[in-house]
Amino acid sequence: MSQNETPLFSGLLAHAKKNPIQFHIPGHKKGAGIDPEFRSFIGDNALSIDLINIGPLDDLHQPKGIIKQAQDLAAEAFGADRTFFSVQGTSGAIIAMVMAVCGPGEKIIVPRNVHKSVMSAIVFSGSIPVFIHPEIDKELGISHGITNEAVERALEQHPDAKGVLVINPTYFGISADLKKIVEIAHSYHVPVLVDEAHGVHIHFHDKLPLSAMQAGADMAATSVHKLGGSMTQSSILNVKEGLVSAKRVQSILSMLTTTSTSYLLLASLDVARKQLATKGRDLIDRTIKLAESIRKRINEIDHIHCIGEEILGSKATFDYDPTKLIISVKELGLTGYEVEKWLRERHNIEVELSDLYNILCIITFGDTEHEAAILVNALKELADECEHRKEKIEPVEVLLPEIPLLALTPRDAFYSETEVIPFEESEGRIIAEFIMVYPPGIPIFIPGEIITKENLHYIRKNLEAGLPVQGPEDDEIKTIHVIKEYKAIK
Ligand SMILES: Cc1ncc(COP(=O)(O)O)c(C=O)c1O
Repeated sequence: MSQNETPLFSGLLAHAKKNPIQFHIPGHKKGAGIDPEFRSFIGDNALSIDLINIGPLDDLHQPKGIIKQAQDLAAEAFGADRTFFSVQGTSGAIIAMVMAVCGPGEKIIVPRNVHKSVMSAIVFSGSIPVFIHPEIDKELGISHGITNEAVERALEQHPDAKGVLVINPTYFGISADLKKIVEIAHSYHVPVLVDEAHGVHIHFHDKLPLSAMQAGADMAATSVHKLGGSMTQSSILNVKEGLVSAKRVQSILSMLTTTSTSYLLLASLDVARKQLATKGRDLIDRTIKLAESIRKRINEIDHIHCIGEEILGSKATFDYDPTKLIISVKELGLTGYEVEKWLRERHNIEVELSDLYNILCIITFGDTEHEAAILVNALKELADECEHRKEKIEPVEVLLPEIPLLALTPRDAFYSETEVIPFEESEGRIIAEFIMVYPPGIPIFIPGEIITKENLHYIRKNLEAGLPVQGPEDDEIKTIHVIKEYKAIK
């Protein structure tokens, strides 16, 4: 089959065209039974292919027909031995990837700034995380990737680890020397699992960092929906056989996946793969040029800095993706969140994320000069307003907390007997919940860690800035779950 074909999408269209009488779910029956307002909004076309795994349409759990053909074409496009489609986002693919190599009591080497899905996988599998400190960028107040040396040290100390997980590129588009990391891990016969949530496009352009499959990694969970043009929630898991078994990956994915897989999502993966494989290079070329031109214009504005190539050269900043615009706003004397809100209220602009010091805007082949000019002009206006403020601009102090110590495995902590105590009185206790700011969803605390004063302060700062701190059962974060302590009876 050629990359111009879309066996899954075309198969669905051919099926819908036959207009079969459906005595199967979904019960809306091509839209006839759905709320009329929603039907007219979403359209009959979409509803006609909102189908289920009946014979002619194959089954994601045991693909042999059009889904298999679509997955095979994706494997060819991404340079993998096997590609599995996920309708449960990259989170679902990541959990399957970790559970495919790690069982209870087995070690996995992971950077501490992983997405919460990696930590969920560690709780589910009962594996033991061996944390690597990511490199911290004190200028920007963000974490980058991990260094080759740190991976080497971790493997020297834990040669029995079942996997090394790497985030490549990071949410902010920074990548490590993945090829070297793969070489190091493979010299210990340990597979490399890549969280490639922010890098579906990098495989298709030589000016972008090496993709997981190009670098020789064993598995990669890759968000096609984030930057590759498929629908939200659709993702893929790429596998190179050898150190991992594709059969085991398939069976674990199947254990974790709904039996009612959305064919709209699956078809969108099929068409996104075709677009990337046949036109990706040109589309991404245009995207890089647009992003570079926005970066240049932003850097002409006083007190606002859009990070570029100068970020390269540290041990963890081996390469970067110029389509990510990391915009540092700390010199304006505002937090990233305040800038996010200002852009929303004044210019109807929504950014990808903000933190205490930055905003992140992503440029994709869905953008044009029109949107670019609106962003640049809005930032100019913001800088002017700040310039004319009476009070002097005080740059925001960049603070990043230490990584807390792990006292219990995340699974043991998660399933321990717990008690609820006031957040403000929790220093020194072992936490039983996750606490993170989403996005980016990187845990500040994971179950089993010892709560420190610095981390409590960091959470307070994020809450004060209005950032979305999440995780605990108490969403106001006035109380948190900690491991119960039994005091001696007097
Ligand atoms: C680094 C990273 N990994 C994994 C994920 C999970 O992806 P998804 O939202 O598709 O489940 C995200 C989502 O933001 C992420 O930022």
